[in-house]
Amino acid sequence: MDMFEAVKARQSVRAYQAKEIEPDKLQAILAAVNQAPSAGDLQAYEVYLVRDGETKRALAKAALGQDFIAQAPMALVFAANPARATARYGSRGEQLYCVQDATVAVAYAQLAATALGLATCWVGAFEDEEVTRIMKLPAGQRPVAILPVGYAAETPRRTPRRALTDIVHEHPGR
Ligand SMILES: Cc1cc2nc3c(=O)[nH]c(=O)nc-3n(C[C@H](O)[C@H](O)[C@H](O)COP(=O)(O)O)c2cc1C
Repeated sequence: MDMFEAVKARQSVRAYQAKEIEPDKLQAILAAVNQAPSAGDLQAYEVYLVRDGETKRALAKAALGQDFIAQAPMALVFAANPARATARYGSRGEQLYCVQDATVAVAYAQLAATALGLATCWVGAFEDEEVTRIMKLPAGQRPVAILPVGYAAETPRRTPRRALTDIVHEHPGR
């Protein structure tokens, strides 16, 4: 699957088969994450791998009852790690770059998973404090996304997109 096919094939999947993820596929996803760009090469984020059922259920509860998180064989929790970016970039690193680093890492994970025939759903609606507690995140780290990963058990409907002419604004020049 080339890049454009993966971009087109990726959809948010909210029902998963019980089937486990092959270790080589998991490694390929994590390797893709590690290729994501980051501000100043600081990679100011952490990735936490959750396979334990009880922890997944706790995450699902913290994510306002999004139970499909627990249905997937694995969830990746992406956390911004401001400490890695702040030393060099100050408040811009603390407020912005670490969140952007984590965000682009999630996008890479989603596309890599899709290219391998797996499905994901970006979950951003959760109680920060609860996820921080469940994941035992070190002080300062901030959860950015929970990403269940697994084999799809549904074919989701296609979601709408804005017209490019609505999104893209050509600068008239000076
Ligand atoms: C920042 C962000 C937060 C999101 N949070 C959730 C969420 O909490 N639960 C959920 O089911 N989907 C969530 N989504 C997925 C979006 O609903 C989905 O990407 C959008 O509807 C487009 O559908 P598609 O991913 O199938 O193309 C989130 C996506 C993003 C980028």
